[in-house]
Amino acid sequence: MPNGVGAFFFEVCDSTNARAATLAIAGEPGPLWVVAGEQSAGRGRRGRSWTSKTGNLYASLMFRPHIRPQDLAALPFIVALAVRDTFIAFGAPESQVQCKWPNDILIGERKASGVLIESSAKHGGLLDYVIIGIGMNLVHFPDDAAFGATSLLHVTGQEVSVKDAATVLAEKLYARIDAWKVDDFSSVAEEWTRYSWGLGQQRVLRTHDETFTATLLGLSDDGALIARLDDGLEKRLYAGDVFPVERAD
Ligand code: BTN
Repeated sequence: MPNGVGAFFFEVCDSTNARAATLAIAGEPGPLWVVAGEQSAGRGRRGRSWTSKTGNLYASLMFRPHIRPQDLAALPFIVALAVRDTFIAFGAPESQVQCKWPNDILIGERKASGVLIESSAKHGGLLDYVIIGIGMNLVHFPDDAAFGATSLLHVTGQEVSVKDAATVLAEKLYARIDAWKVDDFSSVAEEWTRYSWGLGQQRVLRTHDETFTATLLGLSDDGALIARLDDGLEKRLYAGDVFPVERAD
């Protein structure tokens, strides 16, 4: 771990995000990592669960930036880029490692990592803590996921240990967080866009209450996905999922 960053390792825990939140609420100053060999109640985005068998990486970074919740717009994309850096460092072919909005990483158009960012603010508006939870498919992947999945082992034929993956991820994320300027969203958006999956193309978008097809245009400076509907209207998505358009051929 980078200097001054604490780390806890659990063979098994419910959720590294939940453990990190408990430590934050108990007054741990952070930054600190919580890493688990296995999770019994791994959490995904939008209330889903995250299958968490031994062999993959389950890690959460808790830290206390002195900024406001609205200053976090770039963070999901910074984290996605750091996960991308990590997969590439372990041999995933650079051209195949893509960013899918909001912060999934795909290898060969299949999901290899998911990120769940949670935060809490103090009275008065500044953040109390931020937790970045990262799951990386090192050796397994679910075969029943809504979006097709893969693992680093499946792509490269190499088995990477949780310890090695956690070490490299911590370095890559630390370097990107260190370089982060909260008032400069555009350079992060520009880099994320360069490696993004589906921009300029038609995709199926799902929110909690609707599913529709649209052309993905890019990111707004508060992190929303801008998409153009078939009738020409532009829409901004703040929460949801993106899928390929199923073809009938
Ligand atoms: C998603 O794609 O839905 C996000 C998945 C995030 C999973 C990670 S695993 C480590 C951390 N602890 C959790 O309970 N969830 C995140």
